[in-house]
Amino acid sequence: MKPDISTPGDVKTLIDSFYARVRGDDLIGYIFNDVAKVDWPKHLPVMYAFWEFMLLGTADAYRGNPIQAHFDLHDKHPLKAEHFDRWLLLFQTTVDDLFEGEKAKDAKFRAFAIAETWKPKFDGPFAKK
Ligand code: HEM
Repeated sequence: MKPDISTPGDVKTLIDSFYARVRGDDLIGYIFNDVAKVDWPKHLPVMYAFWEFMLLGTADAYRGNPIQAHFDLHDKHPLKAEHFDRWLLLFQTTVDDLFEGEKAKDAKFRAFAIAETWKPKFDGPFAKK
């Protein structure tokens, strides 16, 4: 039986493993590595804070405007439905490989909800740009 996500350390484990997969991914890795040239030591703590806020309810853990960060990226390189689908697949499989339980389900649901809400704003007939 796998553990559930219940501490900041668990969130860190999840996010480190997820972005290790993202960086090495054949479809979306280059967007992070070559287009955005992500500064990982800076970016990962932002992502720990975001997911801690989402999953553990840590007040004030994250402040930011996540969708705008992606519109900025989209100006440099179009974000397509297939990129969101791969992002989500990597997230879901990372959760399933490491955790199980209510919070694990919650993490997968929230990632799904955000990815599916954002996707049509970037790609498709209702895209903003
Ligand atoms: C096509 C899929 C996606 C790509 C290529 C992508 C890429 C990126 C990149 C390059 C950054 C900026 C990193 C930096 O330099 O600091 C970023 C930030 C971020 N991403 Fe994504 N992302 C995707 C989907 C998502 C989804 C579905 C979520 C939903 C949870 C998400 C959550 C975030 C958050 C919270 C930030 C931090 C924004 C901030 O700085 O406040 N991303 N993403």
